[in-house]
Amino acid sequence: MGELDGRIALVTGASRGIGAATARALAAEGAKVAVTDLAAPEALAAEIGGLARAQDVTSEDDWAATTDWLRAEAGGLDILVNNAGLFLMKPLVETTLAEWQRLHRVNVEGVFLGTRAAIPLLAERAGQWSGGASVINLSSMAGLVGSAGTACYNASKGAVRLFTKGAALELAPQKIRVNSVHPGVIDTSMGDEVVNGLAGLTGLGANEARVAATAIHPLGHMGQPQDIANAIVFLAGDKSAFMTGSELVVDGGVTAG
Ligand SMILES: NC(=O)c1ccc[n+]([C@@H]2O[C@H](COP(=O)([O-])OP(=O)(O)OC[C@H]3O[C@@H](n4cnc5c(N)ncnc54)[C@H](O)[C@@H]3O)[C@@H](O)[C@H]2O)c1
Repeated sequence: MGELDGRIALVTGASRGIGAATARALAAEGAKVAVTDLAAPEALAAEIGGLARAQDVTSEDDWAATTDWLRAEAGGLDILVNNAGLFLMKPLVETTLAEWQRLHRVNVEGVFLGTRAAIPLLAERAGQWSGGASVINLSSMAGLVGSAGTACYNASKGAVRLFTKGAALELAPQKIRVNSVHPGVIDTSMGDEVVNGLAGLTGLGANEARVAATAIHPLGHMGQPQDIANAIVFLAGDKSAFMTGSELVVDGGVTAG
């Protein structure tokens, strides 16, 4: 028996990194998992016995088509993981309006469009589970504290944090819980972008920048995608039934100080 037997989940941005690990972890607990990304993650879907589709989370039309597809092919939706995201680290004075807008379209508008589109599907099945339906939004430790070079990313992930709380209050009567997850630096392609961004900003070499990005974590290492997937599985199921509008921080202690 898995913790998520009978549930249907959607993970966006699932081709790699945290999204792929999350899709595998949800499937391992018995969920039927639909995975989307800019290109359909077909191999992952085949591996976990799930469904795949190409989807740009910034497109309203794609969200409408994706929810129609979920209803027809998967039978509904119980768990939405708004995972797709972009990173940006560069001095503010060099940042273009187009870069700010692209970041916010994916990181903020994508979460808004996804949550809004999923509400009718989630509400239909929420009554079946003691923990109701669950929306999990990927914020970041960067949605809790700022750092030099990441002001635009901070703004986008801070928006996800508070969007989550407002949506949680509004959707609680429908038994739809909404929580955010706040990773530290995780060893993914985006983790590499963090290291490269730090190298560009500070003039450190690539190896030194990786050491510096690692050293901010009191636990002494970066996180792995599985660390975040474990937290998401917890938020998806009934063990977190009394949690909504909360921030689950999984950052190796970075923001504890
Ligand atoms: N890796 C980290 O250090 C870290 C830390 C904190 C938060 N996060 C957040 O976790 C989430 C996943 O991060 P990751 O490290 O796995 O990143 P990643 O870059 O490895 O993967 C992100 C995925 O999102 C997809 N994506 C990008 N734009 C998209 C769009 N418009 N529509 C659909 N898919 C799109 C990409 O194709 C990619 O597969 C992101 O929201 C990120 O901001 C990551």
